[in-house]
Amino acid sequence: MKETIALIEWRNLSAADITTLLALTFTESEIEFAGSMRHAMVLCRTVSRRRLRGYGIRSDEGLVGFVCLKRPPASPIWTPADAVTLHGLKIGTEFRGRGYGGAALDAAFHEARSAWPAARRLLLSVDEDNSNAHRLYLSYGMQPVGVPVRGRVGMEHRLQMLFDTAD
Ligand SMILES: CC(C)(COP(=O)(O)OP(=O)(O)OC[C@H]1O[C@@H](n2cnc3c(N)ncnc32)[C@H](O)[C@@H]1OP(=O)(O)O)[C@@H](O)C(=O)NCCC(=O)NCCS
Repeated sequence: MKETIALIEWRNLSAADITTLLALTFTESEIEFAGSMRHAMVLCRTVSRRRLRGYGIRSDEGLVGFVCLKRPPASPIWTPADAVTLHGLKIGTEFRGRGYGGAALDAAFHEARSAWPAARRLLLSVDEDNSNAHRLYLSYGMQPVGVPVRGRVGMEHRLQMLFDTAD
């Protein structure tokens, strides 16, 4: 069954929502891979929303995670001018394996297209050791771009999906 989720932009989250998000649990290595929730909130507060948007992931069970989208020059240096980059998709440990990560990826893809109509693709990088996330992105249909590169934590794979390949 396909899960229903909604992306709630950071500026529309209440103080109680932020508290709920900050209380979601992640392991140390997941924070290495995806960044901390607190750091994501700081970015939303400090970077122009023309360049960065963060979204709480709301399911029928409440807020279950967070994801950020960026546009150059807020995106990593290697990002082509026609791309939106996806960062730090995270679903709290207690809500894993229920389809929320996949549903949030799908919603983020559509959000990227409508927020930045001049962009042509969604791009992300995933750490080689983060097999759960890597599998999720490939099963969604994202395609590898180039060869793996040495990144912040270890080897990173870059994946993309073109906007005009979607319905
Ligand atoms: C990657 C992540 C977002 C996936 O979230 P999720 O809600 O568990 O994703 P889904 O439920 O949509 O799919 C996860 C896959 O793992 C499987 N799975 C089953 N039980 C699971 C469980 N208890 N925990 C994790 N995955 C499980 C799912 O069935 C699915 O596999 P499938 O597509 O072959 O069916 C989540 O693991 C996470 O937040 N990880 C930590 C942060 C991180 O590394 N983010 C990625 C940064 S690039």
